[in-house]
Parts: sequence; structure tokens; C-alpha cells
Amino acid sequence: MAAVGTWSFSQPAVDRLRSLITSGCHATDAVEEAMAGWLKMTQIKFHPSVEMENDPETGRHIVGRGGFPNSEGVLECDAAIMQGTAGKFGAVAALRGIGTPIRVARKVMDRSPHSLLVGDGAAIFAREQGFSIEPNDSMLSVHSTKAYEEYLENRQKASGHDTLGLIALDKMGNITVGVSTSGAPFKSPGRVGDSPIPGSGLYAEHMVGAAAATGDGDRIMCYCPSFQIVQLMKQGSSPNEACCAVLKDIRRRTFPEKCFELGLIALNMKGEVGAASTVEFPYVFWDMENDSVEIRVQLPPSNKNE
Ligand code: GLY
Repeated sequence: MAAVGTWSFSQPAVDRLRSLITSGCHATDAVEEAMAGWLKMTQIKFHPSVEMENDPETGRHIVGRGGFPNSEGVLECDAAIMQGTAGKFGAVAALRGIGTPIRVARKVMDRSPHSLLVGDGAAIFAREQGFSIEPNDSMLSVHSTKAYEEYLENRQKASGHDTLGLIALDKMGNITVGVSTSGAPFKSPGRVGDSPIPGSGLYAEHMVGAAAATGDGDRIMCYCPSFQIVQLMKQGSSPNEACCAVLKDIRRRTFPEKCFELGLIALNMKGEVGAASTVEFPYVFWDMENDSVEIRVQLPPSNKNE
């Protein structure tokens, strides 16, 4: 059993993963629950709920409700979930009006013949599955509305780290990764980042491990880093070796000093964690041996010797 999440703001979600997984929850249910909040499962009803995606405050971190809107002032979210078992993947992109996009992604995985639904089609599917589509105003927070007004006035970019990525390994040996983001602040309408693209924003393989990425999704998706990390783990690399090798290769290809923002996390079936990043990258790890949820900080590599 183990869990890891991107950025320090994922700490409440990793705490929740620990609680759910130790009480026997499946990794996929745990990831959905830790990202979205309450899940209707009687066996976990005694756990206090935290909301990540649906909390307007978490929107400051470019996730879900309260995230930064696109250039037309509309919030469009991307989310995906992948279970290591072959063929278990679901995603939504440019989804409007829903504060828990990971839940819609889960429904795509479990109840749709498709794997990725976008825009109006994703919203139509969500409505069919019982989600209500809210007006855009209720998806924005005071903070994101103000940031958008500032953007309109002086085209000033919003700051913040993007993408909640969570990986969970449960008692039964299931491994699942989920990601959720409102994407690049003030992006073009319809822009989709790396997060819902399998192999780019996330990847998982049963009996091997899983990986997730965060950062500049327009660049990340050109390199499929999550798929590469899992392939390296399959060939015997530790999660840390795999993350570092993939980062090194991308930096070599872009030239180190021109490399974009990229943070990587990975977990294998032994519960070992790995990370690599081009920027200072705090991530949260539940270490079962010490039974502690701790924030670790991954520093970028130096440009020397490259
Ligand atoms: N990494 C998230 C995005 O660029 O959309």
C-alpha cells in the first residue's frame, strides 16, 4: 500500500488516500474519492470527506471549480483516470459546468464505449449519467474572477502550480492514477493539455506501476513522459531512476536551459516512489513503513555535466 500526490496542496488528498486504502478501498475508488470528495460507498462512510476538485479554494492551484478560466472567461477542465488493468482508462477534456471532472472521467471509463470525451459531448454524457451542468458563473471563484479581470486589463498571466495528480496502490495490488486540472490560465477555448492524454499526463500498468506529470501541458504531450516512465520501470528501473532518466532525455532534446516546466511522480508495486522535475517540486508521499504522510521536495537538476 502506498500513495503519492503532486505539489504540497495534495496533502489532504494523500491523507485521505491513506485512510481509504488502509480500510480496504480499491485504488480506483480511493483516487476518485480523494480527488472529488464524497463517494456513495457505505464501507467508507466513517471517513471525513475533503473536497479538492470541487473546492473553489483549490482552484487557485489550477484544479476544478475556482480554477482559471479560458480567454473567454469560461472554465474548462480536463481530468483522467487510469487503472493498471489493461484497457481501463477514461478521460474528459474541455468539460464545462462540472466541479468534479474526475468523476465524469471515471464514468467514461466504466460506462462508455469511448475513452476520451471532450467539450459539449463530455457534458452531454455527464448529464446522461446524472451530473448537473452548472452555469459558468458558479464555477468561478472571487479569486479566479479577479484574475480574469486583471488578464483582460493588462494580459497579466496568473501564477500557480497546475494539476492534481494522485497515484494509489491498494491492499489487493491494484494501482491507479488520476489527474485533474483546469489547464493553462486564459488558454484558447478548446485547448487541451497533457493531463487527459494517456501516456502524457498519466499512465499505469498492472504489476508494474504508474506515473503522472504536471507542468506545461502543451509541451509535455510532445514527449509521453508517463508512458516512458512506466516502460522503464517494467524493464527494471526504480521509480526514481525512471523519472530521472525520462527528465534527462527530455532536457537533452530541448536543451537543458530551454526546458519547460515539468514535474514527474511515479510509484511501483513495492510502494517505492520516484520524482524528477525541472523546477522545485514538492510532492506528497504516504510511506507505509513509517506510516507517515510527508512532503518531499524534488529539486531541479543542475545544468552542469549535461
Ligand atoms: N499540465 C496541465 C496542463 O497544461 O493543462
